[in-house]
Formats: sequence, structure tokens, C-alpha cells
Amino acid sequence: MKVLITGGAGYIGSTVASACLDVDLVPVIIDDLSTGRREFVDDRVFYQGDVQDGPLIDRIFSEHPEIGATIHCAALANVPDSVRDPLRYYRDNVGKSLSLIDHLLRNGCERLIFSSSASIYGASEKLEVDEGSPVQPLSPYARTKATCELMFEDIASASPLRVLSLRYFNPIGADPHLRTGQHLSATSAVLDRMIQAWLNDDVFAITGTDYPTRDGSGMRDYVHVWDLAQAHVLALRQFDEVCTPQERYVAVNLGTNDGTTVKELVAAFNRVVPTPLAVVEVDRRPGDIAGAYASNKKALEVLGWSPRLSLTQGIQDSLEWSEKRKEVLGRV
Ligand SMILES: NC(=O)c1ccc[n+]([C@@H]2O[C@H](COP(=O)([O-])OP(=O)(O)OC[C@H]3O[C@@H](n4cnc5c(N)ncnc54)[C@H](O)[C@@H]3O)[C@@H](O)[C@H]2O)c1
Repeated sequence: MKVLITGGAGYIGSTVASACLDVDLVPVIIDDLSTGRREFVDDRVFYQGDVQDGPLIDRIFSEHPEIGATIHCAALANVPDSVRDPLRYYRDNVGKSLSLIDHLLRNGCERLIFSSSASIYGASEKLEVDEGSPVQPLSPYARTKATCELMFEDIASASPLRVLSLRYFNPIGADPHLRTGQHLSATSAVLDRMIQAWLNDDVFAITGTDYPTRDGSGMRDYVHVWDLAQAHVLALRQFDEVCTPQERYVAVNLGTNDGTTVKELVAAFNRVVPTPLAVVEVDRRPGDIAGAYASNKKALEVLGWSPRLSLTQGIQDSLEWSEKRKEVLGRV
């Protein structure tokens, strides 16, 4: 089977494409390279363009009639940018996704796996969230993801479309063969900021130490990007058992069932690197929350998925990739 991957030149989409290739599922990638990297698709079936470009999607399906499903990773995914320019985020993430659905249905592609996000969940005292937890997205970016989910659910109930929304928690690490990894040099992700501080001999700021967590620092659920990629392979293989004619829209958390605080992440990081990270504790950033971790029972039940790779492995792979990325992408 072939699978259309939108955003397949990005961090997660390229890793999913590698996992597909490893098991003879052929990825056909569409990416406008707005943030994605040509180096990640050089040796892959690749179309440069926008997901809302109907004639291009028609051409892809006419050249690859074996495409049986679409994995929709393409999106703008930077929270602070979305606060600065919400119009662009709604236009790109919501408007273009809607056009894409039209193009997919016209071409008879009725299976959609959607890159959703844990950021759609509201703050919860319990810290653990399952798929039934309240959806209360805080940023424009998170609201575009929640809006897409609602939109897809409505469309699936009244069209041949069936949708599996995979709600990623906090991806870390890289493809274990280091074919691809995080390509953006400055992300707001905690581990990326830690690595940048350590490589540049800077001080890493722990923002907030008065949250209602074990040690007061914020909590996240770090899941290895290769584990995420494997979940997509399982989802492709079992799509028709998970999304049935009766249950046309399904949402599944992809996380580890375990939260890690920022202080715990610093400790885990220091066990991996030869010299300790310099750390300073500062006040909370406006808008930040204590965080959450995933109940991942449903992923095990419906996909047979559970994460295999440890936090330490994720830190090691992120560090290895940060060295390798200079070779693959140049000094960016
Ligand atoms: N990285 C995270 O922490 C995280 C967490 C949860 C969910 N997600 C979701 O996972 C998906 C992938 O995220 P990522 O971290 O790999 O980001 P990324 O920026 O590396 O990848 C997104 C890719 O989509 C492409 N793209 C964007 N708009 C496009 C369009 N209109 N047409 C074609 N291509 C387009 C970009 O060029 C890029 O290659 C996104 O949907 C994001 O919302 C990411």
C-alpha cells in the first residue's frame, strides 16, 4: 500500500515516512517546505506544494492510485507564532485542512490519520488526561487542532471519510538511524532548549517552580518520536478495525502514561551528558500551565501500541541528532 503523508518533510512526518519505508509501506509526500527540509525527502517520492492545491492532489492520486490512506501532519506548529498571528494559523491549519478533505474525498481516499496534539486538553488537577478529558485549548495553535478534530468528526458522520486523530504528547528523540530529526534550530520545546543551552555553555532556565507537581516544576509527557512513528504504522495496518462504518471518528492519546517534571528532565539529561547543565530557577511564563501526561490505555486497546523507548534513549537520540543535523542540514 502507498500512503500520502502531508508535511512529510517535517520532524514528525519524515520520521513516520522512515518507519513506513522500513516495513514496505510506500510514503508519497506532499510538503510546501515552509518549515520542512528538502534533504529529508531527496530519496523519497515527493511533491512540493500546498495541501490545499486541488490540481496537485488530483495529480498525486492519478500517479499513485494505490494510495489507501492519508496521514495529515502538515501544519504550522509554533505556539508563540500562533499568538502573534492567529489568522494565519486558522487559515493554514483549519482552512487548508478543510480543502484537503475535499480533495481526498474527490479522489476516493476515505482513511485519514490526523496529527493532533495533547495541547487541546485543559489543565487538570489530576495531571493525567484520557481521551474523555475536557478539551480546553489555551493557544490559537491548540485551538486550530481542536477545531480540526471537531470538523473532521462532523464530516466523518456525514460522508465516507473515517478519521483517526492521534493526540501526540511531547515528542523527543530522532529516527534511530538518524535519517531525520528535529530540523528547527530554535523550538520552544523543553529538551531542545536544554540541548541548546548545554551546547552553547548557557544557563537553562526552569520557568516556574510553584506548580502543583511533585517538585513544583512543570510536567510534560515525553514520548520518543520513533514510538510515535510506530503508532502510525500500526494505525495504517489496523485502520479498518479501529475506524469502522459505525465508529467513523476515533481519538487516541499517544503518550507514555508517565509525567516527567522539568527538574527530573534536567537530572535525566545530566546522567547522559559528560558535564552538568547549568540551571537557574525563574518565575512562571505567562500562560504556562502545570502540564499533563497521557493515559495511554486506549492506544494499547485499539492499536496494540505502547511506547518502547525510554526517556534516556530519547535524550541520547536528540543529542546525537543535534550533532548529525549539521552534517545533514548544514549549520542551520
Ligand atoms: N512537534 C510537536 O511537539 C508536536 C506535538 C503535537 C502535535 N504536533 C503536530 O504534528 C505535526 C507535525 O509537526 P512537526 O513538529 O513535525 O512540525 P514541522 O514544522 O517539522 O512539520 C510540519 C511540516 O508541514 C509542512 N507544511 C506546513 N504547512 C503546509 C501546507 N499548507 N502544505 C504542505 N505542507 C505544509 C512544513 O513544511 C513541515 O515540513 C503538526 O501537525 C503538529 O501540529 C507536533
